[in-house]
Amino acid sequence: MTDLLSIDYVETDLDALADADGKLAILVTPDGKLDPAGRRVNRLTKQAVARLVDSEAWEKVKTGEGFTMGFPAGLAAEALLVVKLDRRPSVADARKAGASLAKFKGKAALTLCAGAYQRAADIALGLALRAYGFDDHLTKEKPEAKGVTIHCAKPDEVKPEAETAMAVAEGVFFTRDLVNEPANVLTTTEFANRLSAMTDLGLEVEVLEEAELAELGMRTLLAVGEGSESPSKVVVMKWNGGGDEKPLALVGKGVVFDTGGISLKPAGGMEDMTMDMGGAGVVSGVMRTLARRKAKANVVGVVGLVENMPDGRATRPGDVIRSMKGDTVEVINTDAEGRLVLCDIMWYAQERFEPAGMIDLATLTGAIIIGLGHENAGVFSNSDALSGAFLKAAGAENEGAWRMPLGDAYDKLLKSRVADMANVGGRAAGSITAAQFLQRFVKDETPWIHLDIAGVASVKSETALAPKGATGWGVMALDRLVRDDYES
Ligand code: BES
Ligand code: MN
Ligand code: ZN
Repeated sequence: MTDLLSIDYVETDLDALADADGKLAILVTPDGKLDPAGRRVNRLTKQAVARLVDSEAWEKVKTGEGFTMGFPAGLAAEALLVVKLDRRPSVADARKAGASLAKFKGKAALTLCAGAYQRAADIALGLALRAYGFDDHLTKEKPEAKGVTIHCAKPDEVKPEAETAMAVAEGVFFTRDLVNEPANVLTTTEFANRLSAMTDLGLEVEVLEEAELAELGMRTLLAVGEGSESPSKVVVMKWNGGGDEKPLALVGKGVVFDTGGISLKPAGGMEDMTMDMGGAGVVSGVMRTLARRKAKANVVGVVGLVENMPDGRATRPGDVIRSMKGDTVEVINTDAEGRLVLCDIMWYAQERFEPAGMIDLATLTGAIIIGLGHENAGVFSNSDALSGAFLKAAGAENEGAWRMPLGDAYDKLLKSRVADMANVGGRAAGSITAAQFLQRFVKDETPWIHLDIAGVASVKSETALAPKGATGWGVMALDRLVRDDYES
């Protein structure tokens, strides 16, 4: 896994600031109030900080962003960043400040004077998340990233919060690495191996192989992987940190590569389909975070790992397949494969675990990108309570999510002449008919959310807390949901 930045927390030491090497950063309120470290740095730089905050340049700096001074006289540091931040910042502003610090830092050592500022752990989280880079496959020699020292008034209060924040960052990194990894590296087998390795963290991990899946009747899932040399697998991850209450089930689409199958996708952009395991990636990252921070909750993660390839053995358009539930599906389009994977593992999760709630995540439809772009995931649910709780958690973590409708009129579009249902419902409302398909495999008594993350799992331009590529969207929201609603 990509390494987390090393961050140390020490008691504020004003005498160390003049000699701090690498880069130095101070926090200043929007109206220009300096804290003790700010005043010391101001004195050392012969009032350069005071002149900055009195200038027009300071007005143009946005909250959470900073102004860089190169080779400041009076300091050993090669650069000073003056970050604009309230003493009691919002979570979003604190993390944004952290992201600004990460960009300023580069690979150099960084000393941050956080003094008595609130939410130092969120600043650290923003820093860690934005410092992520996926360079495993670059052969050029890379300089090692130096660490961060955060000076603060009460390091012993910040450390436990930062510990939790780093458990979150580790889950996000795990997800991002999985999503960024090319499909020749992240085969179904490699994916399952990386999940099995999480037993080290105290997770129970089971890998179900094709023979067992056939025994269980997961024929729609198996149908998707039929054309691939990589064996289809289902991985079950259990975190039992709670009492004997029923678990929350997280279910993820793990299509390690989606060519479309016999309904082959066009060549342009097909390389992006390495991220089609994004749902499984988020489920895996959340499980890692829960284990790393020893969450007091019962959560089970179930991911379906398959590769959708065209081949002599591949499923054909027109094939009729029986799902584990028993309902038959006419495969009109082999490129609508995600729902075929999910319907079997959702049914399995409910039969085996009788979960208190079930949330599935999938890069399911291109249509959700047309509807919501890259800002929001689509939220589909049979429960106002569960979806309300999730939207609240996502809002608190600044991860975009927007509820979409479900209804009988959409469900009717899945009618098939020869089977209980077709796997596509036509062009209209493509994301909703996909969700309707899934809902046919949700028991009435199971509160359920489907998250269509096709637009948010991986993006072409940088976001607040991630460079371009995999975002890890959803790890923070789901961890927050568990923390707020499932922990004792
Ligand atoms: N994996 C794709 C959806 C997707 C598209 C994810 C773009 C990320 C970016 C999915 O399996 C798919 O191919 N969906 C089809 C459904 C259609 C055939 C009903 C789509 O969206 O075109
Ligand atoms: Mn597809
Ligand atoms: Zn797909």
